[in-house]
Amino acid sequence: MKISEPDFWQDKYELDDTPWDTGTTTPEIIKSINHSINKKICILGCGYSKDAIYLSEKGHKVFAVDFASSPIDYLYKLKKENHINNLFPVKENIFNLSLKYNNFFDIVIEYTCFCAIPKNKRKNYIDVVSSILYKKAVCLALFFPTKKPTRESSGPPFHVNIDTVLPMFEEKFKIINFNPNPDSIKPRIGNEVFVEMQKL
Ligand SMILES: C[S@@+](CC[C@H](N)C(=O)[O-])C[C@H]1O[C@@H](n2cnc3c(N)ncnc32)[C@H](O)[C@@H]1O
Repeated sequence: MKISEPDFWQDKYELDDTPWDTGTTTPEIIKSINHSINKKICILGCGYSKDAIYLSEKGHKVFAVDFASSPIDYLYKLKKENHINNLFPVKENIFNLSLKYNNFFDIVIEYTCFCAIPKNKRKNYIDVVSSILYKKAVCLALFFPTKKPTRESSGPPFHVNIDTVLPMFEEKFKIINFNPNPDSIKPRIGNEVFVEMQKL
């Protein structure tokens, strides 16, 4: 099964093999958003996103996107049970978002989706993020893991070398905040970099 196919990820969800799931909100992302003004926010490759719940409870319109069924079913159940009308779980391949959501979002959140995207599709990913944002809207990216794993089999599939990845984003974005020491959860300290970038 290929990593770029939903079944690869759905299998892991069904086996409860989800080492990426922190089970918590992401402090660095949450505190980078001004919650006094409601925004349209997209979370790419959301998984069982606690941020999606938190941000929708803050009043934002949250579109949580994943192509695996389990996380979308989970978020949809929470939405129904808790009457969270401004949470929109979207079962879709992120590479199909541009048509339906062109120039649509105020904020795109990247957290542990980029490291699941094959390197030859990174440019497409950046194009998608740019196309679904309004002009001058922002992408909040907490890149993980920024260090190459010591063993090939451990950790997320594609680590994020900031020195090569940032110039790729800079073709479509202006970097407005770069934090090499973000507010990371304990096991990820030193292996994350936060970047806020504005669509050109
Ligand atoms: C490493 S997991 C991280 C999940 C979530 N961000 C978290 O922190 O728990 C990567 C997620 O991206 C999703 N994903 C990977 N490629 C995708 C694509 N092309 N379109 C939509 N979702 C994708 C997978 O199904 C998986 O849920």
